[in-house]
Amino acid sequence: MDLSELKKIPVILDGDPGHDDAIAWMLTKASPVFDILAVTSCNGNQTIEKTTNNALRVCTLLGIDAPVARGLDRGLLTDPIPAGNIHGQTGLDGPALPEPGMELSQLGAVRLMAKALQESEEPVTIISTGPQTNVAALLLAHPELKSKIARISMMGGGIAYGNWTPAAEFNILVDPEAAVVIFNSGIPVQMCGLDVTEQALIFPEDFERIRAVGNQVAVVVAEWLEFFYKFHREIGYAGAPVHDACAVASLLHPEMFTIRDLYVQVETTGEYCRGMTIADHYGVTGKAPNVSCVLGLDRQAFADLLVEAVKAYDGWEVRV
Ligand code: BDR
Ligand code: CA
Repeated sequence: MDLSELKKIPVILDGDPGHDDAIAWMLTKASPVFDILAVTSCNGNQTIEKTTNNALRVCTLLGIDAPVARGLDRGLLTDPIPAGNIHGQTGLDGPALPEPGMELSQLGAVRLMAKALQESEEPVTIISTGPQTNVAALLLAHPELKSKIARISMMGGGIAYGNWTPAAEFNILVDPEAAVVIFNSGIPVQMCGLDVTEQALIFPEDFERIRAVGNQVAVVVAEWLEFFYKFHREIGYAGAPVHDACAVASLLHPEMFTIRDLYVQVETTGEYCRGMTIADHYGVTGKAPNVSCVLGLDRQAFADLLVEAVKAYDGWEVRV
């Protein structure tokens, strides 16, 4: 089939790049299936200034030519929680990146997302790889646009355990109230929580397969993985958990993943469990499932997908 005839899936990328966000965006841009309408930065692993600068640089590196807008600088009700121990002081430490090759949009993230939805003929998929503040603010400000959102594919949560507290995963903990808005929105939500993303390990031998592809993006991705692995190796991981790329890969190749529809809620109070995502495994609430929970994956197929994806950048190079 001629790929140019393929009906594309329009997407908005909202994230806090971040090594694994950047790899998720690399995978999105590499696939002819997606049409990237807009990119929005969110407050997450670093300040909004840093994640916005990273978003511009990553889009420049990857040749993403969609408008990029700055997101909200804190959660709906929460202060930021920087995670410099994982992604470094810039939020995306490691290889040198190009200076931004485009201007930041005059619109803020919520207004840019609203515009992209209003102008799209097809319902749009939002790929959220950071705290869900911008997406929740969009739904609160523009409930009339819900029908223009096909689904929200997100990295966040985990129905077994947390990583920032024993109960809570980072993206949800940063803005639990935003997650509540998403989960109760009635929009189809696909959640890649820690249950699957901690199985999405890219091993050092995979870094080398990616580096060996040899183009500029491949080399940068290999170096991102190396940086991201440093922290995780120290705490006993066998590879780098590329959490955020699951939110893209599970759309592209659902057959690689185990997915279960469950009723999920977010704890917003509680001494120990704020930010926890709690799934009703046995239907005890009698509530209909509101989240497609991605729970497992074929790790080898996922690693191979990333190796194939970087090949899409052969012949593309920007000045650093
Ligand atoms: C999430 O936290 C961030 O550091 C990663 O980019 C990912 O989105 C994992 O808990
Ligand atoms: Ca992220």
